[in-house]
Amino acid sequence: MDHFLYKDGVLHAEDVSIPDIARVVGTPFYLYSAATLRRHFEVFDQALSGMDHLVCYAMKANSNLAVIKLLSDMGAGMDVVSGGEYRRAIAAGVPGDRIVFSGVGKTREEMRLALTHGIRQFNLESEPEMRALSQVASELGVEAPVTVRVNPDVDAKTHAKIATGKSENKFGIPIARAREVYAEIAALPGLRAVGIDVHIGSQLTDLAPFRAAFEKVAALTEVLRADGHEIIRLDLGGGLGIPYERSNEVPPLPSDYGQVIRETVGHLGCEVEIEPGRLIAGNAGLMVASVIYLKHGEGRDFLILDAAMNDLVRPSMYDAHHDIVPVIEADVGVDQVPHDIVGPVCETGDTFAKARNLPPLKDGDLVAFRSAGAYGAVMASEYNSRPLIPEVLVDGDHFAVIRRRPTFDEMLARDEIPEWL
Ligand code: LLP
Repeated sequence: MDHFLYKDGVLHAEDVSIPDIARVVGTPFYLYSAATLRRHFEVFDQALSGMDHLVCYAMKANSNLAVIKLLSDMGAGMDVVSGGEYRRAIAAGVPGDRIVFSGVGKTREEMRLALTHGIRQFNLESEPEMRALSQVASELGVEAPVTVRVNPDVDAKTHAKIATGKSENKFGIPIARAREVYAEIAALPGLRAVGIDVHIGSQLTDLAPFRAAFEKVAALTEVLRADGHEIIRLDLGGGLGIPYERSNEVPPLPSDYGQVIRETVGHLGCEVEIEPGRLIAGNAGLMVASVIYLKHGEGRDFLILDAAMNDLVRPSMYDAHHDIVPVIEADVGVDQVPHDIVGPVCETGDTFAKARNLPPLKDGDLVAFRSAGAYGAVMASEYNSRPLIPEVLVDGDHFAVIRRRPTFDEMLARDEIPEWL
């Protein structure tokens, strides 16, 4: 559920009319609903109620400082995957002991940064990384709390580019090698194993792969405990999918996902962490764009928008579907017509949707891309020297620009022409 609804035929974000925001901010822009973000966090928090738990929002989905602060104020932890995300979490006021550091290739600088300012745990992904962290922590005279991300060799049945739990993927340590790795951790200085980590992929629309992975983690917990390791925490990753195509997708509910967690690891008495990103931010955000031109092509109509693949890359990168709706609702009985919805970038890949039914639209009309709050703004680029588009947060009847559009002067000022040229 989200808070983007038509009121008197005009799409609103909570109590604010989207055309009103567009008049102030200009298009295109990202638009987030605070009430939806809060609701999605609460849904996860409740799904794990009764268990000792921490919902660590996967900041990679949307790392705007305002979004992080809003969630942190509700008690969320953060899952970060780079020094940049770690700095964002700290800048938004997240306490270090609520920050989990994931990622396949944490550098020594990133380890030092996190150990100096506070960290809940590092999720280790390889033996070389484990040895590097042991060294860095020892140099600093501290002990780094760690889990090992195990690769359970489970097929997440999602898009190949975002599946992570099969043995051919670059992620984690094969679960069969976990015992020797935990034994090495126990022998190394500067490391303290606190738990096990797993994450099998993103946009999962079936609970069975989660169940299979969590069962393997539960069995491993018993084995490692028998080996004498103190396993007090299980980080079960993120990955629960959202309905991108509302007309025909019904992914599992967070409460059912919580039930799978209870059934698979509930008996172990561990603190449970989860790392949802998409489900918290995805349907809490829209991308709003204007029609520049309607172009009649050979047997098809192209709706050319002022937003492009550099602003929202998911359709061209993953063939992802986003529902696209007019901001001003069509009158009842108006015929929908198929449109190819495209941006102005000079690539055929800059196509958001093909033969998508929309009411007739004209230059200047606004459209909204749904489910754009996660992996939207964070994956944007300035390709074609198009400025990053602003981000706006609505809360009830007010809104604020939470990242402004850069000026062209600012963009150009980042480049330097060497004096010898
Ligand atoms: N934890 C780890 C270790 C992850 O790698 C990810 C996502 C998450 C948590 C959060 O997963 P979520 O709950 O958001 O599914 N750019 C792609 C998605 C990449 C996901 C990468 N890892 C997209 O636009 O679909």
